[in-house]
Amino acid sequence: MTPSQIEIVNKTWRQVLALGDEAAKLFYDRLFEIDPAVRPLFTADNMPEQRKKLMLMLGAAVAGLEDLHALVPVLQDLGRRHVGYGVTEDHYDSVGAALLWTLERGLGEAWNEDVSEAWAAVYALVAEVMIDAARDAAA
Ligand code: HEM
Repeated sequence: MTPSQIEIVNKTWRQVLALGDEAAKLFYDRLFEIDPAVRPLFTADNMPEQRKKLMLMLGAAVAGLEDLHALVPVLQDLGRRHVGYGVTEDHYDSVGAALLWTLERGLGEAWNEDVSEAWAAVYALVAEVMIDAARDAAA
């Protein structure tokens, strides 16, 4: 990722945070719409807590982009834990699509091609580290 992409992501993340829980709600509604098969992986009565955890972890990832040495081991652990939640590699495509869709909705006028590319790069990085760690754990 380029420094300017990191700046874009930090700036737009602050706008997403201002939407609070609404952003995470949009995300999960969209995810379950485009990939209903993942719905049963989530404990139904725990979604408010889950939404908080997702936003905190995404915030940590955004904050960590400038210090990948610290971020990578956190994401590797997260990726390994996801194997235990029944998450497969294909699911990462659905989550990535739902995330970008949510950001586009949430950011409204602030959304453009540069923002889209910057967030796609963040998600690709996060997903790659998580998936690689899960694969290594399985090997
Ligand atoms: C950017 C990628 C992702 C991030 C940042 C993320 C973040 C998190 C966090 C922070 C938790 C809380 C538990 C923990 O820390 O271990 C969690 C749990 C979970 N995640 Fe993810 N996740 C990602 C990708 C995915 C994908 C691709 C799926 C597939 C559908 C998924 C499904 C789940 C499930 C099923 C749980 C457990 C929910 C429960 O206990 O009911 N996550 N995720």
